[in-house]
Amino acid sequence: MRTLGQMSVEQKKVMGPALNSLKNELAALVETRKTVLEGAALNAALASETLDMSLPVRADTGTLHPVMQVMEEMAVIFADQGFAVAEGPDIEDDFHNFTALNFPPGHPARDMHDTFFLKPDENGDKMVLRTHTSPVQIRTMMSQKPPIRIIIPGRTYRCDSDQTHTPMFHQVEGLVIDKATHMGHLKGCLMDFMSAFFETDVDVRFRPHHFPFTEPSAEMDVRYERVGDEIRIGQGDKWMEILGCGMVHPNVLKNCGLDPDEYQGFAFGMGVDRLAMLKYGMPDLRDMFAGDGRWLSHYGFSPLLQANLATGLS
Ligand code: PHE
Repeated sequence: MRTLGQMSVEQKKVMGPALNSLKNELAALVETRKTVLEGAALNAALASETLDMSLPVRADTGTLHPVMQVMEEMAVIFADQGFAVAEGPDIEDDFHNFTALNFPPGHPARDMHDTFFLKPDENGDKMVLRTHTSPVQIRTMMSQKPPIRIIIPGRTYRCDSDQTHTPMFHQVEGLVIDKATHMGHLKGCLMDFMSAFFETDVDVRFRPHHFPFTEPSAEMDVRYERVGDEIRIGQGDKWMEILGCGMVHPNVLKNCGLDPDEYQGFAFGMGVDRLAMLKYGMPDLRDMFAGDGRWLSHYGFSPLLQANLATGLS
């Protein structure tokens, strides 16, 4: 190419295009070869840079979040009572979150739940961030035949924020459907759960309440006492509300295609974050989701110690 300058005009006319096409040909060959060599290098790296999954985990990095820990503990206790785990989507439609659960159209509870609505679709229908885990009751009853015995752990959302409320929080729902399930089963199941969870004798009481999807409905309180900054469960003369529960409403059974003359059952729903605060003594719910490494290393749990009933939950 450098000699082109000294050539005559006629020579340039011939040699210019010839040299150019030679240059392009060489560039293409270099490019092809480069691709081949890069591919070979990648294959060699993939073959040699293996990850040994059998290496022991470094136990000094990372902790299990208290919410995860408490969910594991609950799953272990309920598994012992014969419950399986079911899950559902965080983004729900109006039918599963409200209508099928016997919330009449325009019922104030739809707003009382401080619902987060998504943008309406072309028909004007709005999906919601589920306000409770109860829609998974519907999904389960519509897809499985009784007997049903499930817990439903998961995230729930309400537009609310203060010391004891966060816009995202966690619930564990329970659902039992069978032919002769009654309120006594509900009470026994929850009383046993509370004593196992708090690892001490827990005194509970049931108060009449209202939920559209259960009849009769109740709230359950646990006895507690405040000693200085500390909350002690199982003693004292104060009562703390801890969960909602009741017998599944016949309309809900019907909405799921079950015959209320054949089947009946109970359901309950409890706040996981609240139970974690009570058991492990965290003062402010909002800290749970601030992602502060100091908080996490203080309140977190070893990822290697699995909760189990034989050696203790935590
Ligand atoms: N879904 C209710 C709530 O979030 C709790 C509940 C569940 C009550 C199941 C009764 C039965 O407030």
